[in-house]
Amino acid sequence: METPVIFETHAHYDDEAFAQDRENLLASMQEHGIGYIVNACASIESLKDTEELMEQYPFVYGAFGIHPDDAEKMTEETLEEIRQLSRLPKAVAIGEIGLGYYWHKEEHEHEIQKKMFLAQMEIAREEKLPFMVHSRDAAKDTFDLIVARGKGQRGVIHCYSYSPEMAQEYVKLGYHIGLGGVVTFKNAKKAKETARQIPLERILLETDSPYMAPTPFRGKRNNSAYIDYVAQEIADLKGISKEEVIAVTEENAKKLFAII
Ligand code: NI
Repeated sequence: METPVIFETHAHYDDEAFAQDRENLLASMQEHGIGYIVNACASIESLKDTEELMEQYPFVYGAFGIHPDDAEKMTEETLEEIRQLSRLPKAVAIGEIGLGYYWHKEEHEHEIQKKMFLAQMEIAREEKLPFMVHSRDAAKDTFDLIVARGKGQRGVIHCYSYSPEMAQEYVKLGYHIGLGGVVTFKNAKKAKETARQIPLERILLETDSPYMAPTPFRGKRNNSAYIDYVAQEIADLKGISKEEVIAVTEENAKKLFAII
């Protein structure tokens, strides 16, 4: 067996936070033990940026989709662009898609988000790809939509922040749970309990860079090299070695994203 490498399943290297040092940072990833990075789209502009990163770096893969914060900017053309990009050889998921009610509290905004979430889940189904879910302050609606319309599909609930009980329900449905910097925060009881309770076979490592930096970098710009702190925390919570966490989550991600 090859030496395990860290599989970073969710980062945003197209973000302007990396404008000054993107190339140097990405060039240093392999020496930090990072073997794979999935760059997740968020805005409409990030579709093209992610395609470029994917072409430029052999270890960068792409998730194509639009974040719920930008759902209202989406048109039929956007959906068609996502579909076309998802057919590229290194496109491994549709994402990040979902529901985010934190900044959008109006009912009509929720309706647009739901419509675009479902439309993108449908692309994932048709293109036989997993999807990456962003869900903030929308636990019930997200779960209900996935139960109602996600039958037989695969995916990951990224930056999981809800109850451990709900995480167990997602695991039963066949979904993965993405854990990042939050598990290292002292007060993150739910995330720590989730990491403890769900099987390692369903956990994916992620950073959500440039956001969500783990302790001791909380509040600073995140990057994939810090994922080591997340792996160590999960190992401590489960009473296993960091090496086991890295090896198993690498296999989990390769299977989910069909990377051989
Ligand atoms: Ni993200």
